[in-house]
This record gives sequence, C-alpha cells and structure tokens, in this order.
Amino acid sequence: MRKFALTAIAAAFAITSFSASSQAAGNAPVPAAQEWSWNGLFGTYDRAQLQRGLQVYKGVCAGCHSLKYIAFRNLTDIGFNEDQVKAIAADYDIEDGPNEEGEMFSRPGIASDYFPSPFPNDQAAAASNGGSIPPDLSLMTKARVNGPDYVFGLLTGYEEEAPEGFDLAEGKHYNHYFPGHQISMAPPLYDDAVEYTDGTPATIEQHAHDVVAFLNWTAQPELEARKSMGMKVILFLIVLTAMLYALKRKIWSDIEH
Ligand code: HEC
Repeated sequence: MRKFALTAIAAAFAITSFSASSQAAGNAPVPAAQEWSWNGLFGTYDRAQLQRGLQVYKGVCAGCHSLKYIAFRNLTDIGFNEDQVKAIAADYDIEDGPNEEGEMFSRPGIASDYFPSPFPNDQAAAASNGGSIPPDLSLMTKARVNGPDYVFGLLTGYEEEAPEGFDLAEGKHYNHYFPGHQISMAPPLYDDAVEYTDGTPATIEQHAHDVVAFLNWTAQPELEARKSMGMKVILFLIVLTAMLYALKRKIWSDIEH
C-alpha cells in the first residue's frame, strides 16, 4: 500500500514537471499576473467592464476575429435588457437564405443570431492578413496557458522595433509575449480606439483589460454559477459534518469511557 502511494506521488511529480517544462519550451516570457475581478473564491464579473469589453471587441477586434459561439441573446447575461440586445443585433447584417428564388440574402440581425464572421471563408481571412488566419476568439482565454494574462500581455506587448539581431520577417510584428515573437497581427489597440459610453478613459491598458474580461466571459459564462455552487457545496458539507458530529456524541454518550 505504501509503495503504491509513493509510486503515485512520484508519477504525479513527473507529470507536473513534464507539463511545466513543455510550457517553458516555448520561448515566450510568462505574462505578468493581472488583477481580474473574477479572481478568488468570491470573484464575479464586473458587468460594466464586460460591456466596455464588448465595445472594444465590436469596435476593433471584430474587423478580423469571429466570435462564433456567442449569440446576441447571450448578451442579457452581461447586463443588457432585451431591447438593447435587439438593437445590438440589428446593427449587423446577417446572411440568410436561400429564399424562394434560391438566392441568399442579407437581413438585419435578430437576438437569436450569432455574431457573424468578418470574412466569408478562411482563404479570404488569410488573404487579408498576410497569410495568417485570425482565430475565433470565443474560447481563446481558455485555449492558452494563463489565458487572460496572456491575451492582456499580447495586446500590450508590442515593441516598435525588434531587438538588435532579431530577424523579423516581412509583414510580421515584434511581440514580447507571442511564442517566437513574430506575429501577423498588427498592434490592434491605441489610445481612444473606442470612445467608452460610460466615460472611462480609453487607454491601451484599459481597452486590453476590458476586452480580455469580455473574452473571459465568452469562454466561461458559467464561472459565477460554478463558484456559487461550490460555496453552497462547502456550506452543506460544513453543516453535515456538524450534524454527524452531534449524532456521534449522542450515540456514544451512554457508553462508559
Ligand atoms: C487587422 C486584423 C486584426 C485585428 C483588428 C485584430 N487581430 Fe488578433 N489576430 C490577427 C491575426 C492575423 C492573428 C494571427 C496571428 C499569427 O498567427 O501570427 C491574430 C491573432 C490573435 C490572437 C491569438 C494569438 C495566439 O496566441 O495565437 C489573439 C488572442 C488575438 N489576435 C486577439 C485580438 C484582440 C483581442 C483584438 C482586438 C483588440 C484583435 N486580436 C484584433 C488579426 C487581427
């Protein structure tokens, strides 16, 4: 039994150190940990921040990146009412069809539509972006190690010039956090890239924090429900333990000891 336990511990060690070293194998530096509103046991999303992040996505990222797993009606989750959702959806042209003549047609979006992709197909996306396809952003913060910190680092980690001796390919940009440092995405953010409706000063860092918060919601919309369920389970276990302890004392109280 003891031998088994030791082997299990050794195996766990081997697995964790292997995954740590495979992360370190990429030559990109580890992004600094940011303070996110959803960190910690009681952390929740900040609705105002998510709405600002949506503004950044719509105003900047949506030009190149799709968000194909998010429907407009999901936006009620971040504090919009149904009329607001309808208005946001109606801003988009959605391809629909075929109609009775067999033609595809375009119509204003409705709440049950999904965010449309900026390009009709991957070839068009690659042709507009120097051969690289901008990936869908719906699940991005889950798809990368330390996703939120990494995407924040990526958005704020551009350098005007590559360091001396770095061979930057034509059409690529030097980014501190992108693995290999050469990225096809030009720096997407600049001060006042969007004008926030709530008057928040629109610096690059503010844009980056807000859009990452929004993208973390698109990747983990269930995060708050999951945390509150976790708290309920812990509370239940505490109460159950107290009751079992009281019961045990009651049962043993007649017995001499
Ligand atoms: C002009 C087009 C364009 C815009 C605007 C743009 N991107 Fe990109 N983005 C790209 C391209 C192209 C790539 C693929 C880069 C590569 O593989 O070299 C990319 C890649 C990414 C990646 C993936 C990096 C990785 O680790 O693979 C993230 C995350 C990202 N973009 C986030 C954003 C966010 C957030 C915004 C809005 C603030 C944005 N992008 C705006 C073109 C764009």
